[in-house]
Amino acid sequence: MRRLLGRLRRRFLAYLRPEPYRIRPGAHRTPTEVSPLSEEEQGIVDAFHKLYYDQRVEGRQTVLLSWFGHRILKCPFDIWTYQEIIFETKPDLIVECGTRYGGGALYLASLFDLRGGSGQVMTIDITAMKHRPVHPRIQYVAGSTLDDGVVAQVRAAAAGKRTMVILDSDHSATQVAAELKIYPEFVSPGCYLIVDDANLGGHPVLPEHGPGPTEALDEWYPTQSDFEIDRSRERFMLSLNPRGFLKRVG
Ligand SMILES: C[S@@+](CC[C@H](N)C(=O)[O-])C[C@H]1O[C@@H](n2cnc3c(N)ncnc32)[C@H](O)[C@@H]1O
Repeated sequence: MRRLLGRLRRRFLAYLRPEPYRIRPGAHRTPTEVSPLSEEEQGIVDAFHKLYYDQRVEGRQTVLLSWFGHRILKCPFDIWTYQEIIFETKPDLIVECGTRYGGGALYLASLFDLRGGSGQVMTIDITAMKHRPVHPRIQYVAGSTLDDGVVAQVRAAAAGKRTMVILDSDHSATQVAAELKIYPEFVSPGCYLIVDDANLGGHPVLPEHGPGPTEALDEWYPTQSDFEIDRSRERFMLSLNPRGFLKRVG
């Protein structure tokens, strides 16, 4: 009952809140053809990637960003790419597997605010956490991304919506492989499936992590023809999601 009242209150407040100023979109589009790096250039990028990533546990905390004071575990280059993808592909639902502090969900909701109109973020986490940001566009779902009940909620939310999916929960190959059996079907044609942290397990960072998203992708990718890896989304060279931006083409 309390949850229902809370939801009704949030909806009512959202209704009362005046529409924020909408940015008038420009005509520039990101390049779709990006030439691959030479071996030497890739070596330089990988060396920087390792330096950058190893500092995540040092004082610099490179992977721990903040968005309006809420922690978000991403690379600035990647969230900029998220913004370009969202602007260009116009999803009205983003399903985020793995919430942690909620800063990622808030960032996505903020992009929808800037865009105006509809736009919801459904974010799923197995671990409860206090002080996650409250926002009328964010729906928190408690549970495993693999729970039947959770999947049923996602299916209901995605029905008839232009949907994008971000896999950013447990980065073991087993978990990502299991999510890849379920979540791609929710992605709408033209939208993206983003497999986060494909850099783990020695691609090029943290070899001791063992099989991770890249190994899961290597198994799954050849078995389907609906998605294409879009390497143009890695044009900033450093991405924590190498080969992890997949566009639904079928
Ligand atoms: C990398 S963090 C998510 C970061 C967040 N997306 C962001 O942008 O800041 C991974 C989260 O996945 C959650 N997680 C791990 N296994 C999960 C599962 N099976 N189902 C749902 N969430 C899971 C963890 O509790 C953790 O909070």
